Amino acid sequence: MGSKILTLNMSKTRMFLFIMLFCCLVSETSATVSYDGHGILVDGKRRILISGSIHYPRSTPEMWPDLIYKAKEGGLDVIQTYVFWNGHEPSQGKFFFEGRYDLVRFIKLVQQAGLYVHLRIGPYACAEWNFGGFPVWLKYVPGIEFRTDNEPFKAAMKGFTEKIVNMMKAEKLFEPQGGPIILSQIENEYELMEYDIGNPGKAYAKWAAEMAVGLGTGVPWVMCKQADAPDPIINTCNGFYCENFYPNEAYKPKMWTELWTAWLLGYGEPAPYRPVEDIAFAVAKFLQNKGSFINYYMYHGGTNFDRTSGRFVATSYDYDAPIDEYGLVREPKWGHLRNLHKAIKLCESALVNSDPTVTSLGKNREAHVFKSGGACTAFLANYDAQYSVKVSFGNVQYDLPAWSISILPDCKNVVFNTATVKKIFSSFTEPVIIFSNGVVSFHGKHMQMTPVGTAFSWHSYTETAPSVGDKESFTEEGLREQLNVTWDTTDYLWYMTNVNIDNNEAFLKNGHLPILTVDSAGHGLHVFINGQLSGTANGNINKARLTFSGKVNLKAGLNHIALLSISVGLQNIGTHFEKWNVGILGPVTLRGLNSGTWDMSRWTWSYKIGVEGEALGLYSVHGSSSVNWAVGKSLARSQPLTWYKTTFDAPGGNDPLALDMSFMSKGQIWINANSIGRHWPAYKASGTCHQCSYAGLYNEKKCLSGCGESSQKWYHVPRSWLKPKGNLLVVFEEWGGDPSGISLVKRSY
Ligand SMILES: *[C@@H]1O[C@H](CO)[C@@H](O)[C@H](O)[C@H]1NC(C)=O
Repeated sequence: MGSKILTLNMSKTRMFLFIMLFCCLVSETSATVSYDGHGILVDGKRRILISGSIHYPRSTPEMWPDLIYKAKEGGLDVIQTYVFWNGHEPSQGKFFFEGRYDLVRFIKLVQQAGLYVHLRIGPYACAEWNFGGFPVWLKYVPGIEFRTDNEPFKAAMKGFTEKIVNMMKAEKLFEPQGGPIILSQIENEYELMEYDIGNPGKAYAKWAAEMAVGLGTGVPWVMCKQADAPDPIINTCNGFYCENFYPNEAYKPKMWTELWTAWLLGYGEPAPYRPVEDIAFAVAKFLQNKGSFINYYMYHGGTNFDRTSGRFVATSYDYDAPIDEYGLVREPKWGHLRNLHKAIKLCESALVNSDPTVTSLGKNREAHVFKSGGACTAFLANYDAQYSVKVSFGNVQYDLPAWSISILPDCKNVVFNTATVKKIFSSFTEPVIIFSNGVVSFHGKHMQMTPVGTAFSWHSYTETAPSVGDKESFTEEGLREQLNVTWDTTDYLWYMTNVNIDNNEAFLKNGHLPILTVDSAGHGLHVFINGQLSGTANGNINKARLTFSGKVNLKAGLNHIALLSISVGLQNIGTHFEKWNVGILGPVTLRGLNSGTWDMSRWTWSYKIGVEGEALGLYSVHGSSSVNWAVGKSLARSQPLTWYKTTFDAPGGNDPLALDMSFMSKGQIWINANSIGRHWPAYKASGTCHQCSYAGLYNEKKCLSGCGESSQKWYHVPRSWLKPKGNLLVVFEEWGGDPSGISLVKRSY
């Protein structure tokens, strides 16, 4: 190319330059994103936009193209993601944009697929993500207070937001630059906190809006759940239903930034699911009431790898989304929504160019009719949760199942009914639904987890609980807050002290052992007395605090007490959630001694950060060679503080893989030194799992599954983390389990 240009004569070169200039001027003036009361306008064209959330760090880069492709096939126009600050700036000023955190690569893949991006910079994300997406070091910036009118916080927030915006600009990723980003978001669901804290909150929200707009991205910003979002920012709705939401100005479009496709899974909780008929009904209701943008939260939920989940949030972030945790389409959810999106596209121009005329068709029945330029589109609704009805519309009779809306793009023919789940012709799965007499029944194959037959041969290494004087420990008066000590570099902090028991103590003779009571701000606790596990306690997603109280087998003379305090993800939501404490704050008491009760809270305590195996890096090939592992008859079983390792070859095929951890209790898993996340199958789901009808108002407690079982027994093993041969699998088990029960399974239909 270069040499050819060199041979051009002057006039041709001028012509060439002229054409270049002309083309670029044209594209620069036409590439715009704007809005009005009827919708977002992309390059001057008003749109109904269907969006879905896929959070890039919740899958692997190798999964991204397939997820994006399935989203496009599912009828999406936009992919929405948060930006995860703590993933990108793990320590202050040290940035990371590689692997699962390669944001630019993710956005470019979306662009290559021909889809748009809604970039929620936040930088507060919530998202059931560790610390809501904030780096832990941020909490220790002098004088800082999160998400309020606080100079250190505003400076840090502006710095990160600017960094991301500049990075997007440099890569030409905003729509006016020819990129895919058509929308951004600043802050996140702030209005409740603003209400809580009053004037400083108001000042902060206004500052955040002005700061964001000042960055000149060329695309609109939204603030979700922010009724007072100042112009030109669009306030948007998050919820299970949003038809009754309206933006704060008539010239802003009605947008739904989070349509919850189910709900998060917490350890100790059953798995929530949401019937697709109700989701489709909610979408149709929103659109017939002038809605023009919907985003499924989540469209692909994925996995909270590593230690990225929020407090008591499970490692699986499946969310009952249209694409499941493993990247497979979930039917009939995915296919029914794809059919809905096809129907909506047929109505797009009528929906964005007119206001509906609403007529009653009887009790709990309505018609919404959109007329524009000779075209007519109708939505016929039956809001009754129990009865199907026949309605007459334009002299034609239509059957409307309970709690459903029919879409008639030409005001005559029903192309879609939200409660009628038709046979799915997904290109990814076999048809799974048989449809008779208007009653949908599911006779298909269900998603299965089948063992792949890999036999693991385990090695074990059991740590000993540390004690006062341990070489890695330090000593202080009284009890320290855990996060302040660890900065969340590990889940674990040891609190150690010594107790001297006099020969005269009565309990030594009468056997009435003393009671140790430990009050902790959470989230889990294992008590070791003279090296022996003596008890365990944990909180739950609704209550972080815990109290351990139990008899302790003390002997005459010196006794070592070692308390292992465990965090299970940091709080991610609520007014000043950053002020939540972790760890043993006391009181710690010993009851039943000759002199009564000893308050140990102000004693001298020794501290040790993390467990030994973390320091040795036992999860890596190199680190694992630093200790002697037991095998065969001496393999540890039901032992606390035990590391297990094995090597295995990757099974053939492309089916996604998982580990069945049913026989283990709690800890963490690594494959080739990549952290899969925390396992906690010992935490069984409490609650009642009722039969659940799609009809009637949905909430996150309505449809639950897995009551009485492990909240999560399967843990995703990404294919791309495996080599063909000799993969190192390491499990750290805190309480004790039987590794021979661990199996590798594949997920398939
Ligand atoms: C962290 O601990 C230090 C030392 O005890 C204390 O001075 C400081 O106030 C603590 N910081 C926070 C934010 O709790």
